[in-house]
Amino acid sequence: MNISLLTLFPKLYEPFLQASLIGRAHQSGTINTDLVNLLDLTEPKKRIDSPTVGPGTGMLIKPEIMQKAIESQESAHGKAYKIFFSPQGKKIDQQLLKELAPVIQQQKHMMLVASRYEGIDTRVEEEYADLVLSLGDFVLMGGDIPAMAFLEGILRYMPGIVGKSESVEKDSFTGPWVDYPEYTLPVEWKGRKIPEIVQSGNHKAIEDWRSEQAAQKTVLNHFQWLRSWALTDDQKQLAKKAIPAHYMVLMHDQMRLKDGRIGTTSVTTMDIHDIARSCRTFGVKNYFISTPLVDQGKIVQTLLDFWQGGEGIDYNSHRHQAVKNVRLVKSFEDTVKTIEKQEGKKPIVIATSAQKHENIPVLAFSDQDKVWNLDRPVLIVLGTAYGLSDAILEQCDYILAPIEGFSDFNHLSVRSAAGIILDRWLGINQRYSQLANVEK
Ligand SMILES: C[S@@+](CC[C@H](N)C(=O)[O-])C[C@H]1O[C@@H](n2cnc3c(N)ncnc32)[C@H](O)[C@@H]1O
Repeated sequence: MNISLLTLFPKLYEPFLQASLIGRAHQSGTINTDLVNLLDLTEPKKRIDSPTVGPGTGMLIKPEIMQKAIESQESAHGKAYKIFFSPQGKKIDQQLLKELAPVIQQQKHMMLVASRYEGIDTRVEEEYADLVLSLGDFVLMGGDIPAMAFLEGILRYMPGIVGKSESVEKDSFTGPWVDYPEYTLPVEWKGRKIPEIVQSGNHKAIEDWRSEQAAQKTVLNHFQWLRSWALTDDQKQLAKKAIPAHYMVLMHDQMRLKDGRIGTTSVTTMDIHDIARSCRTFGVKNYFISTPLVDQGKIVQTLLDFWQGGEGIDYNSHRHQAVKNVRLVKSFEDTVKTIEKQEGKKPIVIATSAQKHENIPVLAFSDQDKVWNLDRPVLIVLGTAYGLSDAILEQCDYILAPIEGFSDFNHLSVRSAAGIILDRWLGINQRYSQLANVEK
């Protein structure tokens, strides 16, 4: 594999290319790198960069220098797979590296283009880049560190570079999970012992423990990654064990009413059925309907009797599956107590609202880690009418950010909001190929 590295700072790469596995890959002839100093390609007494056209102060590398560098490398080593580095590019992750490795391997010549200053004339990227990659959503002074990071990542997938390819396949992010905790001797260090099970010699028990630990670490700290995978049923079960128990309540008292008063609201059968179905889909343990009104409670109970134990079971078993987890309660306090009794721990209570509220810590839909690391059940509170009263909001630990679209309309039904909230908080959101539609 030939690797052309186009840079203004070749010295940065020299020790890097000689060290560790990359150094060994050079010695064994598995890879051959050609460091191209872009400064060597400037005409005598001419600058490598020139000012950006139009308002602004930045300097860009001239397109003809890049052309000379790229085309001469391709005449020397054959057509290359050309990767440019820019914060505007596609973010590098393990899935992308894995997909890209065979493509590059087939080409036999990879060219990495690291720029500096404000970057490169846009037309150069348009003309030559097969892929533009970013190291993350931050700006560095140049593309050299991203190029080196990429090289370390991609070369792990090239045959003959990493000794045990099995370890590459088991590392964090090669699948849905991050790696499990690992230990070496001594058994006790600074008062910390290697867990008994790891020392047990029971391979099956150790494997199970490792899977559970990996699942737990992933759920708690990398849920956005985990939910981007097409999980098997077993993987879903493993993840589910690590996700704290979730509950939802739909409040019909202590609500803000149209005229500004605080009062009760009527139950609606659609909100019982539809939210129950959403809750069942996303693994919510119980969905509580809270009303202090006896007559309203009777309406709910009639419906629950039909679907939970009556003719509803045979009439529509899927509906039964959803409605069997619905519980009628008299108040917010009742809901919290029921959960505490069931779980042995008080729930973390998360309010929802179409409006922004001050004085309650706000959660984004990607903030699961903040809540789940507290190791307590979670209760999501939905309001009716004009939303939850201050009396309820004061008892909540967090409030979820309002659901918003790119419009000025903000009047979702509570059952739509419930579906969106549950999907954003607990749903799987599978990604497909990282390369499709990106490669030129
Ligand atoms: C100062 S940056 C230019 C930033 C550019 N004007 C922008 O705002 O998108 C100079 C060069 O550093 C490299 N670079 C900086 N941040 C990077 C990142 N997060 N990923 C990949 N390359 C990066 C790119 O090669 C970039 O052209």
